[in-house]
Amino acid sequence: MGELGLGLQKIIKAAPSKALVIRINLVFLAFFLVIYASLLLRPSSSAYFQNAASLVRCSLRECHHKVEKGVKMEAVLEETEAMKPKRKRNLTMLEVPSFIDEIGGGVKIGMLNFEDEDYSEWEKHGGTIPIHFQRVSELFEWKDLFPEWIDEEEEIDGPMCPEIPMPDFSKYDDLDLIVAKLPCEYPVDGWARDVFRLQVHLIVANLAVKKGKRDWNWRTKVVFLSKCRPMLEVFRCNDLVKQEGEWWYYEPEITRLEEMVSLPIGSCNLALPLWGQGNDEVFDVSKIQQATSAAKREAYVTVLHSSESYVCGAITLAQSLLKTGTNRDLILLLDRSITEPKRDALKAAGWQLRFIKRIRNPRAEKGTYNEYNYSKFRLWKMTDYDKVIFIDADILVLKNIDLLFHFPQMTATGNDIWIFNSGIMVVEPSNCTFKLLMNKRKEIFSYNGGDQGFLNEVFVWWHRLPRRVNFLKNFWANSTVETGLKSQLFAADPPKVYSIHYLGLKPWHCYRDYDCNWDIGDQRVYASDVAHQRWWKFYDAMDEKLQQQCGLTERRKIELDWDRKMAEKEGFQDEHWKINITDPRRKFLIN
Ligand SMILES: *[C@@H]1O[C@H](CO)[C@@H](O)[C@H](O)[C@H]1NC(C)=O
Ligand SMILES: *[C@@H]1O[C@H](CO)[C@@H](O)[C@H](O)[C@H]1NC(C)=O
Ligand SMILES: *[C@@H]1O[C@H](CO)[C@@H](O)[C@H](O)[C@H]1NC(C)=O
Ligand SMILES: *[C@@H]1O[C@H](CO)[C@@H](O)[C@H](O)[C@H]1NC(C)=O
Ligand SMILES: *[C@@H]1O[C@H](CO)[C@@H](O)[C@H](O)[C@H]1NC(C)=O
Repeated sequence: MGELGLGLQKIIKAAPSKALVIRINLVFLAFFLVIYASLLLRPSSSAYFQNAASLVRCSLRECHHKVEKGVKMEAVLEETEAMKPKRKRNLTMLEVPSFIDEIGGGVKIGMLNFEDEDYSEWEKHGGTIPIHFQRVSELFEWKDLFPEWIDEEEEIDGPMCPEIPMPDFSKYDDLDLIVAKLPCEYPVDGWARDVFRLQVHLIVANLAVKKGKRDWNWRTKVVFLSKCRPMLEVFRCNDLVKQEGEWWYYEPEITRLEEMVSLPIGSCNLALPLWGQGNDEVFDVSKIQQATSAAKREAYVTVLHSSESYVCGAITLAQSLLKTGTNRDLILLLDRSITEPKRDALKAAGWQLRFIKRIRNPRAEKGTYNEYNYSKFRLWKMTDYDKVIFIDADILVLKNIDLLFHFPQMTATGNDIWIFNSGIMVVEPSNCTFKLLMNKRKEIFSYNGGDQGFLNEVFVWWHRLPRRVNFLKNFWANSTVETGLKSQLFAADPPKVYSIHYLGLKPWHCYRDYDCNWDIGDQRVYASDVAHQRWWKFYDAMDEKLQQQCGLTERRKIELDWDRKMAEKEGFQDEHWKINITDPRRKFLIN
C-alpha cells in the first residue's frame, strides 16, 4: 500500500489538476469496491469445491466433468481444518503381536495413524516416533483419483492429479520398523475405494522407500493393524511374512515399492507417457525401452476355454504380436474343449500351449455364457514367469507393446467410471494371489458377471495406460466428431494405435463385406467398417492354413442372414443390409 500511495502522490504532484485528483479518487473507490465485493461474494469453500468440480469440458468421447485440481485442492485443505471434529481422547492399550520378538523390535519405530492409542507396549521394543500427517479431506472421493476420462491426448491442458497430503519426510531419520493402523470400513458399500485408506498405504510405502532401514535382501519391515487385508496392489501378497489377528507383518522389496510410489497416485494421470519425453517427469521412455528390450521371465498370454469360437481371434492375435517383433514367449492357456486340429493351428500361429482346468464363477447360473469366466485367474498360476501381459483374443496388436513389461500389476487402460478394461493387463503371477482370488470367488460381486468386474474389486488401485494401447472399438459418445477421430485412428498406416479391441460381434463372425454390428440394434455402437477392414487386411496377409481357421459355420451364416433381414425390417438408415455379400467364406462353410 505504501508504494502505491507514494506513486499516486508523485502523479498528483506532477499534474495537480482537480479533475485528475477526482478521477484518481474514483479509481480508488472502484478499486476498493471490487475488493469488498470479492470478499463479500467469495463463496464458502464447499460451494467453491462444487463449482470447481462441476466444470465441464468437452472432448473426444463426450462432455466430461473436469476437475480443476489447483482450485479444488485448496478448498479441500481448508475444509479439512474446519471440519475436523474434536475427538475425545480414549486411550486404549495397543497390544503388540506375539511375533514382535522375531521382527526384532528395533531402535526406531515409526507409528502412523495411532491417534487415540497408548503405545507404551511398543515402547518396550524401541523408541516410538509418531509420524505426523494431514488426513485427506472427506470430500476427496475415489473418482477424483480415478476419473473416467482424463485429457491424455492433451487436447486441453493435459491430465492432472489432485494431491494427497504426505508427511514431511525430512523430519524423520531412518526407521527400523514402520507400524501403521489402516482404516477399514468393510463391509460398508464401497469400502475398498476409500481415499483415506489409500493415503495411509501410500504414506507407509513412501516412508519405507525414503526412511526404511533395508536388510541384506534390500527389504524393509512394515506392520499393519487392520481388520481387512492391506491393499495387495501396494503391499504384495508374497511379501506378507506373518499374520496374527489384526496384525499383518510385511517385508516388502524396496526396489518394487520404489517403482510403485513413482507412479501417479491414481488413474488421474498416465503411467506411461504417450508422447515420449516432456509429458511426464517421472518416466524417461528411452530408459524403459532399454530396460524392457531383454526378454526376462516374461510372456504374452491369452486364454481360450469352453468353446472354439475365439480360435481365429487367438490366431490373428499371435500373428499380430509376432509381427511387432517381440521376443517374449507367447503362451496360450486352453482347456480340452479346443480340438486337436485347432490346437495344431494355434501352435502354427505361434502359441505355446498350456492346458488348464477352467474356473467356474460360482455366482453364474449353470449353462450361461459367462459360467467359466473366472478361468483367467489361471494367469496367476504361471509362476515360472515374473510378469505376463494378458491380451484378450479379440484384440489385434498393431505396434510393439513390450514397454508394458516395465509396469507393475495392476496396469491397464480405462473402461468406464473407475473401472479398468481387463482386455490388456499387466499381471504378476503368484500362488498367493491366485489363492486369494479363488477364496474371494463367492464373496465378491462382479458387476458384469465376468472377470473384469471381479478383478476390479480386487485391484481397485491401478495404473492407467494410454487408451491407444487397448483402443476399444466403440462409439459410446455417438457423435460425428468421435466417429471421425476414431475412424482416422483405426485406418492410420503406419498405425497410430497400439491395438484395436474388437468389442461387439467379432470380425471373423461377420461377412468380410461390412461390420455386422450394423445389423443389430444394441450392437450398433460397436460398428466400424474402417476397423473391420483393418482386421481383414491383416487376415489377408496371413498364411492360408491359418486363414482356414476363420471360416463361417452353417449356423453362423444362418444367423448373419437373419440379422440382415431384421435390419432391413428395422430400416436402419445406414443400409448396410443392402450391401451384396461377396465374401467367399459363404461358399466354403466349415463345421
Ligand atoms: C473407551 O473405548 C472403549 C471401547 O473402545 C469403550 O468401551 C469405553 O467405554 C471408552 N471409554 C470412555 C471413557 O469413553
Ligand atoms: C506355485 O505352486 C505350484 C504348485 O501348485 C508350484 O509347482 C510352484 O513352484 C509354486 N510357485 C512358486 C513360485 O512357489
Ligand atoms: C464370458 O466369457 C465368454 C466366453 O467364454 C465371453 O463371450 C463373454 O463375453 C464373457 N463375459 C464377460 C462378462 O466377461
Ligand atoms: C445416436 O444418435 C442418433 C442421431 O444422432 C440417434 O438416432 C441414435 O438413437 C443415437 N444412438 C444411441 C445409441 O444413442
Ligand atoms: C446386388 O446384386 C443384385 C443382383 O445380383 C443387383 O441387382 C444389385 O444392383 C446389387 N446391388 C448393389 C448395391 O450392388
